[in-house]
Amino acid sequence: MSKEKIILTGDRPTGRLHIGHYVGSLKRRVELQDAGDYSKMFVFIADAQALTDNIDNPEKVRQNVIEVALDYLACGLDPTKATIFIQSQIPELCELSFYFMDLVTVSRLQRNPTVKTEIQMRNFETSIPVGFFTYPISQAADITAFRATTVPVGEDQEPMLEQAREIVRRFNYIYGETLVEPEILLPDNAACLRLPGTDGKAKMSKSLGNCIYLSESADEIQKKIMSMYTDPGHLRVQDPGKIEGNTVFTYLDAFCRPEHFELYLPDYPNLAELKAHYQRGGLGDVKVKRFLNAIMQEMLEPIRNRRKEFSKDIPAVYEMLKNGCDVARAAAADTLSDVKKAMKINYFDDAELIAEQVKRFAGQE
Ligand code: TRP
Repeated sequence: MSKEKIILTGDRPTGRLHIGHYVGSLKRRVELQDAGDYSKMFVFIADAQALTDNIDNPEKVRQNVIEVALDYLACGLDPTKATIFIQSQIPELCELSFYFMDLVTVSRLQRNPTVKTEIQMRNFETSIPVGFFTYPISQAADITAFRATTVPVGEDQEPMLEQAREIVRRFNYIYGETLVEPEILLPDNAACLRLPGTDGKAKMSKSLGNCIYLSESADEIQKKIMSMYTDPGHLRVQDPGKIEGNTVFTYLDAFCRPEHFELYLPDYPNLAELKAHYQRGGLGDVKVKRFLNAIMQEMLEPIRNRRKEFSKDIPAVYEMLKNGCDVARAAAADTLSDVKKAMKINYFDDAELIAEQVKRFAGQE
């Protein structure tokens, strides 16, 4: 097995991507892509996984494939450096999943904490689609098909990676060293692990209207930031305020860099001083929000502009995806061939097997 370092990661196309995706994973991918420490990088749009809980709404998934592709390009993913593709176009992934299903028990799937929460959130109760229930297995196929060593994702994906690693170990134990065990790569900044919604709720979600999208207009961004959740006990400017659970400060932890003070808030030398003043009292929410807005606008403007540029030539985006699918398919087919060889289900190109059977039947005469 090669020791190549390979990155793989993906997103479900159920909506446009937002700043939580950006700090949780996208930004890191672009850095990894440009650093050149990895020999290959695969980034894919997990439309088949999105269908596992959107089977009544295929049009939503279909529309969002192109939205996510545009978000990728806007953030700086570069198809000359990374293979960008669509999951459903790689049938080898289904084949791999089919064999992986034999390596996982129902009770193991039932224990997957992310799946458990998702089942509750979607009110599936007794009507869980089998495809949804088993998506961690298909995700293990996504990862291993490309021999990924490194998977940059958010914290919620940890159980998926753990399950993928178990599948790899079990497969390799039964059939011999064939598959690569992947490692998760989490954001190094705690605030980026899970960015809360603008309303302070733990998760950004489209239905709660608490996301800031990468494609959002400057006005929308400002509106959302100026109405963000802070400390409900901080009523007057002179009151002492809380930092913990204060979304504006959580966002500053995630997005603020030292040079931002000189640029946008020269009265303060750094974030620690700004926080201290807020806690002492005498610093109003509006001032802090304006500072955050300046930072967010600086970050999102180039992304929004690039997105606009790419969206002027949609056929070119589909062409890019198609090329990515061709490259990805070849890579997945290569792994699948190894897998079939290891499982000895490569009947027609196994000369030894055929010779063995010839001998066995000859002996019967
Ligand atoms: N489950 C991931 C999410 O919800 C998407 C995904 C599918 C993925 N397959 C993957 C991520 C493989 C990393 C690797 O965001």
